[in-house]
Amino acid sequence: MNKKGFIFDLDGVIVDTAKYHYLAWRDLASELGFEFTIEQNEMFKGVSRKRCMEILLDIGGIAATKNQFDTWMIEKNVDYLKYIDKMDASEILPDVGRVLDFLKKRKIPIALGSASKNAQPILEKVGLLSYFDTIVDGNNVTKAKPDPEVFLLAAEQLGVKADNCIVFEDAVAGIEAANKANMISIGIGDNNILSEAQYNFNDFTEMDNAFLNGLLAGN
Ligand code: G6P
Ligand code: MG
Repeated sequence: MNKKGFIFDLDGVIVDTAKYHYLAWRDLASELGFEFTIEQNEMFKGVSRKRCMEILLDIGGIAATKNQFDTWMIEKNVDYLKYIDKMDASEILPDVGRVLDFLKKRKIPIALGSASKNAQPILEKVGLLSYFDTIVDGNNVTKAKPDPEVFLLAAEQLGVKADNCIVFEDAVAGIEAANKANMISIGIGDNNILSEAQYNFNDFTEMDNAFLNGLLAGN
């Protein structure tokens, strides 16, 4: 049997931080004098902070100097950090713990593959850091999802061949990145949105141990 590796995205897969990202972007938009809706926030999932800032300014029709751009991006993150500061284990999404325990018990290598530069403190806050053999996040990559760099680097650090890796993702860009990396892509969320995923579940409660065993066996 080929050695398998599992790669988890963070935001929207392990914890629902999308709501805090939304609140922080909405605060900034409102300060800049326009509205930012929850529907528009969908476009921000899996997308780097810098790219989100560019999209937000497009939405507001605002032309920013480089200085303003950088200042607003810092402001958004300071605001976001205030929200995540209050996070604890109660914010881990349903059955994420069960799946991590299942893999850990079988000594399967586990990586985080996230665009976020705040990944490590979030994992610490919710008490899941020790499950991960490696963390690849926005601090380690130069190319954002849908580029496969983040997942390829995670596979390399786990010492597992890319086509033996399984990726859990909630963002369209993340599924595309996993597919490009030749990994098994598992969408967590709405099947209509994540239609490119090889498998899809609304959340981990729908993913039973038989399915996980099938992945390990390479079925
Ligand atoms: C994740 C989220 C995005 C966020 C990005 C960067 O991919 O889904 O919405 O913009 O991480 O997060 P950061 O914590 O570095 O601002
Ligand atoms: Mg995500």
